[in-house]
Amino acid sequence: KRVAVLVSGGGSNLQALIDECAKPDSPARIVLVLSNNADAYGLQRAAKAGIATAVVNHRDFQDRPSFEQAIMAELDARNVDIVCLAGFMRVLTPGFVGNWHDRMLNIHPSLLPAYKGLHTHERALEDGMTEHGCSVHLVRPALDDGPLLIQAKVPVLPDDDADSLAARVLVQEHRIYPAALRLLAAGAITVDGELALVDGRPGPMIWTETD
Ligand code: GRF
Repeated sequence: KRVAVLVSGGGSNLQALIDECAKPDSPARIVLVLSNNADAYGLQRAAKAGIATAVVNHRDFQDRPSFEQAIMAELDARNVDIVCLAGFMRVLTPGFVGNWHDRMLNIHPSLLPAYKGLHTHERALEDGMTEHGCSVHLVRPALDDGPLLIQAKVPVLPDDDADSLAARVLVQEHRIYPAALRLLAAGAITVDGELALVDGRPGPMIWTETD
């Protein structure tokens, strides 16, 4: 399957996906890395890996639909089958999301449906959560919503701050995102309404740091 990864920043999740797709048995091949930010370090990661890049800067467009039309043109030009959002910081319209129904993944740093939106680690700490984590889901029009494929749980430790907790979660993001992309590209995901079946079993798969 031909994959495009959309990034806005450092792209550590992109790097995990690049490393996964470089494996000889990978059913997914990244054919494009696209960013709305010309300075995104993720673009350099792509270039180092010999992957085509594109910049579609949202500030160059009058409105969201025309911005998304430019993104669609880049995706269509490369016959992309699957889109992965990896730290892509622009909200996509229902129209765009609809084009990629059950073909677009996102990684979110919380145990969805808890803590949709931003600053998830700070909020979990504030609430005194003893457990936190990350989720890979199929993208639906509602923000950080959609059928869950894989989640990883991490403990919140007494001396955690947002940075230490985010770092612990990020390690798990780099495990579950490549695994979820492999499953989707291999055709191991089926969706029944808002429930994803992973290898025929109701999702999400739940991982911990030790398994
Ligand atoms: C991570 O917390 C990820 O969950 C969120 O953006 C942060 C940085 O991701 N999407 P990356 O290093 O740019 O992949």
